Amino acid sequence: MSEGSFSRVGVVGLGTMGAGIAEVLARGGLAVVGVEINRDALERGRGHLEKSTGRAVKRGRLTEDGQREILDRIELTTDFGDLSGCDLVVEAVPERLDLKHKVFAELDKVVRDDAILATNTSSLSVTAIAAATGRPAKVVGVHFFNPAPVMKLVEVIGTVLTEDGAVDRVAALVKGLGKTPVVIGDRAGFVANRLLFGYLNDAAYMLETKHATRDDIDTAMTAGGALPMGPFTLMDLIGLDTCLEVLEAIYAETRDRRHAPAPVLRELVTAGLLGRKTGRGFYPYGDGAPAASGSADAPAAAAEVDPLPSVAVVGDGDLSKAFAAAASEAGAPTAEVEDADLVVASGEDADLAGIEARAKDGAVILGDGGLTGGGALAAHKPEADRPLVEIGLTPVTPSEAADRAVELVARLGLTPVRCRARRGFIVDALRFPYLNDAVAMLDAGYADADAIDAAMTLGCGYPTGPIADIDRLGIGRALDQLEYDPDEANPGVADRLREQWDLGLTFR
Ligand SMILES: NC(=O)c1ccc[n+]([C@@H]2O[C@H](COP(=O)([O-])OP(=O)(O)OC[C@H]3O[C@@H](n4cnc5c(N)ncnc54)[C@H](O)[C@@H]3O)[C@@H](O)[C@H]2O)c1
Repeated sequence: MSEGSFSRVGVVGLGTMGAGIAEVLARGGLAVVGVEINRDALERGRGHLEKSTGRAVKRGRLTEDGQREILDRIELTTDFGDLSGCDLVVEAVPERLDLKHKVFAELDKVVRDDAILATNTSSLSVTAIAAATGRPAKVVGVHFFNPAPVMKLVEVIGTVLTEDGAVDRVAALVKGLGKTPVVIGDRAGFVANRLLFGYLNDAAYMLETKHATRDDIDTAMTAGGALPMGPFTLMDLIGLDTCLEVLEAIYAETRDRRHAPAPVLRELVTAGLLGRKTGRGFYPYGDGAPAASGSADAPAAAAEVDPLPSVAVVGDGDLSKAFAAAASEAGAPTAEVEDADLVVASGEDADLAGIEARAKDGAVILGDGGLTGGGALAAHKPEADRPLVEIGLTPVTPSEAADRAVELVARLGLTPVRCRARRGFIVDALRFPYLNDAVAMLDAGYADADAIDAAMTLGCGYPTGPIADIDRLGIGRALDQLEYDPDEANPGVADRLREQWDLGLTFR
């Protein structure tokens, strides 16, 4: 079987991405020619292929015969001349424009004139790569995600130089391989990285400005944002050098402050702390790694000895509803405001100042805003059905009060994190600018809602796409978080967000 108009495909560079791409192509029944720079690198590439397909056999997803067939379809060589019979070549060498130019110059010489040349670059300009070849009309971007055999998204990039049909042929191939192609133009970061990295960089700034700790930000985004991993865990996995590279490329194009790499990121890269691959990034890894210490750990240990706190819930705000449900689920005793260990007050008629006056000494009082500077702490629950509670601190919040709040919230089975009591706390402060970016991308005509949502779910592991998220969370809430003022110009707020709001429309 071959995929559409291609039957023999070359892959240059069999590292992390190239080996995965070669496997995907061979699994799809295509004849593959894998090229490496020397024998040692070729053997490493062979190792990647054997290990990855071997893992699939162990997991029962592939038979041994199936594995042999896949590996037999991949011819391994160090001779670029062996690519002469290919009708498509995918380049996956390290991310340096000079190196890409060198490889494409070589491909230009040896590969048939009618063949398509594709680059897997994440952050370089596909146009700059194409323009330096003798066949710019036949150069496209084909951006696979790591690990290529698993991730369903492939961004297919056409430039202003690409001929009609080339992008469609490659997109059809991608589809035939069981992946989802998203066809777009050549903008730094394409869709997925452009949206993802603004958010990751915001998280790094949040850490740098001590808005919250690394662990609390990661916990907030998994427990409250429903992401598979927090931003610091993800950046460490991607590699901080790659993160810096991608952000620099996006910043060079947008000049948007949100893409200017956070100094902490540059500092870690300069220090050689690149994440998992070097044993340390935002987190330490390997033998030297201390046991993870989230702020919820200590209270969890205490839970075995102390009785559950007594809880008074006042008002009908989301915070109150969530605590009423959690207290009942945990079997915590209820009490009057005067006797409770924990008082939660939210909603229209929650009179925080009055509650403070009535509560007993040492009680923790949580309210959804209305900070008094006294005993009450601001708390925020990004979504009622998630366990996260963000506890906001002001410069005058006593640290013992914050510690006690964290402890009691954890005792009720909820997940506490602490941060500055500023608009959006952690989750909303990180997600609404990201959602706004997605709407701005829609507005710019770069990608449609389906492409944007597919990019973030299939390429970055988000449970739902940003356009669907905006509809779910509400445009009003987004505008509020973005501090939209109908009487002002609001340059930072996507126009389309306001238009949809004015018309009372959702995006889908
Ligand atoms: N790693 C990721 O998560 C990821 C994701 C998407 C895209 N990308 C992009 O994919 C490309 C490759 O990244 P990677 O992470 O696989 O890199 P890598 O370092 O793991 O692999 C690159 C391979 O290219 C080989 N190579 C170097 N020069 C060569 C030459 N002249 N001819 C043939 N082979 C040569 C190297 O020996 C190495 O095996 C980059 O453009 C990167 O931006 C990476």
